[in-house]
Formats: sequence, C-alpha cells, structure tokens
Amino acid sequence: MEPIITIAGREDFAEMIQLADLTMPDRMNLHELKKYFELFPDLIFKATDGRQIVGFCCAGIDMYQSAGWLLFNLVKPEYQGKGLGKRLIKARLTALEKFPNLSRVLVTVSKENTRSIRALESFGFYFSHREYDYYGPGKDRDIFELLFLPPTSITTLPEPVVSLNC
Ligand SMILES: CC(C)(COP(=O)(O)OP(=O)(O)OC[C@H]1O[C@@H](n2cnc3c(N)ncnc32)[C@H](O)[C@@H]1OP(=O)(O)O)[C@@H](O)C(=O)NCCC(=O)NCCS
Repeated sequence: MEPIITIAGREDFAEMIQLADLTMPDRMNLHELKKYFELFPDLIFKATDGRQIVGFCCAGIDMYQSAGWLLFNLVKPEYQGKGLGKRLIKARLTALEKFPNLSRVLVTVSKENTRSIRALESFGFYFSHREYDYYGPGKDRDIFELLFLPPTSITTLPEPVVSLNC
C-alpha cells in the first residue's frame, strides 16, 4: 500500500530524528525540528506505511506570509524513487497555497542533489540565484524558486479611456 501523508505531531519527534540521522546525519537535529514545530506546526508532514514513518518534510513561511520555504524533505532509502518525495513537496505546496498573500516559494538545494532538483522542477521550480559563501568561505547555496500570483495581484483591466477631444 502507498504511504499515507498526514500532519506530524510532537509524538513523532523521536522517530523523525532517527530517520534523519539514518539518511542525512548532521543535517537535521532535534533542536531544529522542535523549532520548526513551534513556528510552523501546520507545515510539517509525515509519510507513514502502517505504523512506521518512512518520510517527512517541513516548510515555513516568512513573517509577512508572502514567501514560503521548503525546509527539509526526507524519504527512507527503500522508499525512494517511487514518487513519495514529490508527494511530500505537493503536501507542502498545498498547505502554503492557503496563505492568501503567498507570492513565491523558495528552497535551498544542493547542485549535486539531482533527485531533489528533478522533483522540484516538475512542480515548476527553477534556479533563482546562488548566494556565495553563505555557509562560510567557498560554501555557496543555490536557491530555487516557484512564483505564485496571489488573487489580490490580479487586477482587472482599466476601462478604455474615451477621448473627449474629437
Ligand atoms: C530527495 C528525496 C526526498 C526525493 O524523494 P524520492 O521519493 O526519492 O523522489 P521521487 O521518487 O518523488 O522522485 C523525484 C525525482 O527524482 C527522480 N529520480 C528517482 N530516482 C532517481 C535516481 N536514482 N537518480 C536520479 N533521479 C531519480 C525521479 O525520476 C523524479 O523526477 P521525475 O518525476 O521528473 O522523473 C529523497 O531522495 C531523499 O530523501 N534523499 C535524501 C535526503 C535529501 O537529499 N533531501 C533533500 C534535501 S533536504
């Protein structure tokens, strides 16, 4: 059966960190995960197969609620390459779309991470820019972006101006 994606809860902390340590050691720690839960409790999802967590992901949004961020995405190795990573991206985009002022979603992705890049590009993300030395000297980060047009930015065309001169 396909894994089910639902909102994660604090009771999932331990299993999520265990999975992160297994797959991406040193990338996500308990403190960081707890911060995400405090800040963005509705933007953290888990994928479960039976009772087992087989993937999870986090998103955030800036204080003006106009720029969303995909913060972390992880699929257990034996579940990779079956579309789950993309479903976890979709879950976060759907949650972020509910913010009425959302104008763009950003994500940091390493240029070697072809799986992530392919998955992001399939949703319309494109390379936006490189921030040089972001992680220290010689350690850059690449930002990918997806633009949204909030409904408020769709303006109606002005009425044609009727000239009174002729
Ligand atoms: C990145 C990650 C979340 C993607 O999850 P996934 O379930 O493997 O991804 P999907 O199956 O949804 O596939 C995503 C894309 O990668 C492609 N892909 C799958 N297996 C691949 C492989 N072995 N090599 C290259 N690309 C591959 C897929 O074709 C798909 O693109 P497409 O739909 O355009 O064809 C997962 O690989 C992972 O957890 N990696 C380790 C952690 C990580 O790097 N996280 C991202 C940074 S936070």
